[in-house]
Amino acid sequence: MEGFNNMYRGRIFFMGLAILSLSLISGFVWNGTAFGANKADLGKKVYEERCMICHGAKGDGKGLVSVMRKSEKSGRVILVEPRDFTNGVFRFRSTATGCLPSDEDLLRLVDTGITRSFMPAHKDELNMDEKKAVIEQIKTFSTRWKEEEPCKSITVKKKPKWVGSSSSIEKGAKIYKEMKCWECHGDDGRGKGPKSDQLKDDWGKPIVPFNFTAGALKRGTGAEDVYITFMSGLDGTGMPSYEDSLKEDDRWHLVSFTLKLMGLDKHVH
Ligand code: HEC
Ligand code: HEC
Repeated sequence: MEGFNNMYRGRIFFMGLAILSLSLISGFVWNGTAFGANKADLGKKVYEERCMICHGAKGDGKGLVSVMRKSEKSGRVILVEPRDFTNGVFRFRSTATGCLPSDEDLLRLVDTGITRSFMPAHKDELNMDEKKAVIEQIKTFSTRWKEEEPCKSITVKKKPKWVGSSSSIEKGAKIYKEMKCWECHGDDGRGKGPKSDQLKDDWGKPIVPFNFTAGALKRGTGAEDVYITFMSGLDGTGMPSYEDSLKEDDRWHLVSFTLKLMGLDKHVH
């Protein structure tokens, strides 16, 4: 009787082990191979259908549409080129300068597109799985994504009530001078500062500083968008990060002045 019992227990033990290992194997297939492969296929498909025409088959920005001309309200004509993803340098991040963007940053770009740069919005064109998959596809073009973890996002604290007030604009004007934003963006914010003719981007192409009267920021138009722009810096454009050189209140004064240059100061309240 005892022998039978032991044998019986033994069988149950082995059956349990078999079930456990089966589920481990299938779990591995689900997470590691089969599902991952499906996701990669989906990312490739979405990329080929929606992004490749501009960003190119290799992600090097050499798609069929590799240069677009944009004439601004001011009469200035600039060349707009789709981003080359192969060096892993991104402008519109919430992370510190030198860092990779976060997944949320990339998701926001896919959703909203980029104003003034012809990059279309895909908020309603793609579902969440497709958006996530195409973001992973973007990451296959540069080895930086394998070598580095994205950094923490810079937190934007609550916007003070006085942003956009005339005294804040006045203080912001002083900071704009001290921080030498004018060297590129010009005293009047029209993007014609003394350094503006010599700027090259990380790909060696001439780049023009933002003309604050030309319309919306590429990132967006909110006060927070201006704040994060000079905090994170626009990597690859020559525009540095001012995260370490500005105190919190001064950052918001600078936002006030920048919005004033854009003619948006009336809308902040
Ligand atoms: C009509 C052309 C066009 C299409 C289509 C397009 N893009 Fe872009 N994209 C651009 C241009 C131009 C830029 C550079 C914008 C700039 O910096 O002024 C850009 C920049 C980017 C950036 C870099 C932003 C940064 O922070 O530096 C990402 C990421 C991006 N595109 C993703 C995508 C994805 C994903 C798709 C497809 C779902 C896509 N784009 C489709 C034109 C396009
Ligand atoms: C070395 C030159 C340089 C300096 C200095 C500089 N910028 Fe810029 N900035 C640029 C360039 C170039 C662009 C355009 C990038 C683009 O179009 O993608 C830009 C773009 C911007 C934008 C628009 C971003 C967008 O989303 O379209 C804002 C806002 C801005 N700068 C604010 C500032 C402020 C505020 C300062 C000073 C604290 C400053 N910049 C200093 C070169 C500079």
